[in-house]
Amino acid sequence: MSVQPLCHFTGISDLSSEQFWGLLKLARQLKDEWTQSGCNEPILAGKSLAMLFEKPSLRTRVSFEMGMQHLGGYAFYLSPAEVGLGTRESAADVIRVLSGYVDGVMARVFDHRQIEEMVEWGSVPIINGLSDYSHPCQALADLFTIWEELGALEDKTLAYVGDGANNVATSLLMAAGKVGLNVRVVAPLGYVPAAEVLNAAEAEVEVTDKLDGVSGADVLYTDVWVSMGDEDEQEERMAVLPPYQLNEELVQRSENEDVLVMHCLPAHRGEEITDKVADGDRSVLFPQAHNRLHAQKAVLAHLLGGVGLP
Ligand code: CP
Ligand code: NVA
Repeated sequence: MSVQPLCHFTGISDLSSEQFWGLLKLARQLKDEWTQSGCNEPILAGKSLAMLFEKPSLRTRVSFEMGMQHLGGYAFYLSPAEVGLGTRESAADVIRVLSGYVDGVMARVFDHRQIEEMVEWGSVPIINGLSDYSHPCQALADLFTIWEELGALEDKTLAYVGDGANNVATSLLMAAGKVGLNVRVVAPLGYVPAAEVLNAAEAEVEVTDKLDGVSGADVLYTDVWVSMGDEDEQEERMAVLPPYQLNEELVQRSENEDVLVMHCLPAHRGEEITDKVADGDRSVLFPQAHNRLHAQKAVLAHLLGGVGLP
């Protein structure tokens, strides 16, 4: 039986396990095709993607733009200043206008409700390119990277260290539940996943404020302590999060000489991760960033090109 197609990619909790695995497998096929022949079939010829950004980006913007180009389509960037989402014009009006011009919209927003409003009012596929709540494109690329590096996801253990309540952690928990990846959230009180996130995640999750929580992990993952939009909490966050730095001592505590070190980037080196660990021999930070391209090509090929999920 074929896997049920997706209409949007706005949160991993909306996907079945089969759909999530379908995207991982399609990413594998598209990456292999591109690696072996230096190009992909132009399955998105004549298709267009609007990329709407309320916040800065390097990886998301460039990987989506190049992903569309590799697949024969066209992508263009819309800056916060020109659109004024929710200020110059409501998200509902913006998406109804864009739906008549383009075949899909990828949006990075401050308030996740704007993604929901676009899904409600638009008539083209919507992709969440990061919101205050989640970052599903990142989690898809992250699990693709772990699958590629370790050869499996089920029964592996990822220890997420630092701000366990942020968008990246939330999407990792949701994704973990789709593939049987175990998660330990090693974070101080007040920076742990919300109860509703833990309930929705369907993953085996342990939450602890003890650094020993990383013991036996296959993957150590961290992200910035102050996410975009949380800048007014800078002082209080910097007061409690420094003990959760991903440094050589923490890598030792994993008691796994093959442990993978991951970070979604951009990194604040010297804060949540040290240079030595970010550039060390266990780090997969750059293959992980490069896999954003391949993972998102799968999302684009499926949503905009109608390519079925394997
Ligand atoms: N990881 C990530 O989404 O990076 P950007 O903010 O640069 O897009
Ligand atoms: N948690 C970070 C991720 C950046 C890709 C943020 O939202 O700023």
